[in-house]
Amino acid sequence: MEKPELPVAIRFVAQIRSLYAQNLDPDVLWAKIKIAMGPLLADPTLKESSRTWPLTVEGAPKVKNLLFYEDPDFGFVFNATVRKAHSVTSIHDHGDVWTLYGLIEGQETMYRYERTDNTPRDIGPVQLKQVGCHHIGPGDVDSVRPGEIHQEHGGAENSMAFIVRAQKAGTFKQRTYNRETGEIKLNDGPTLIPHRLC
Ligand SMILES: [Fe+2]
Repeated sequence: MEKPELPVAIRFVAQIRSLYAQNLDPDVLWAKIKIAMGPLLADPTLKESSRTWPLTVEGAPKVKNLLFYEDPDFGFVFNATVRKAHSVTSIHDHGDVWTLYGLIEGQETMYRYERTDNTPRDIGPVQLKQVGCHHIGPGDVDSVRPGEIHQEHGGAENSMAFIVRAQKAGTFKQRTYNRETGEIKLNDGPTLIPHRLC
């Protein structure tokens, strides 16, 4: 896949690659990528580009992601979502890979859950306890650790987010959780729509 054409995104790719090359502990690596993401999210050229992106998330279960870039050496990817106002996703995880979810425009609320059952991880039945709920706005980055269970709620207007994932969706399994029935479903994550970042 070709590199993004937006200069600020090209710089961000170079920063992430140099961090990966240092063989850092994953917690340190993703904390540093999160800091490097700040200037990207604030960049006017990215904001302008995001206004041309198509709607990708209208609520559960129809979730798509734009795919801008996949790194040929380290495997991290750049995705984006345009979330419909007031939409609510399923309760889910992003598999066992890191995700940084950076808001460009709009407001969202992120709910966090933890399992209170001792059943098999992929089989359940699951029991969930809500352990957090935080609001994010433009420039904020929600760091989703491997396996972290969460749910995104759209705000009063459509919201745009730039996402860095450690691996491309479809190369690992993700889970959705039904709080009422305890059912766990494995899936390949969002449908990817290749898109030029320019
Ligand atoms: Fe998510």
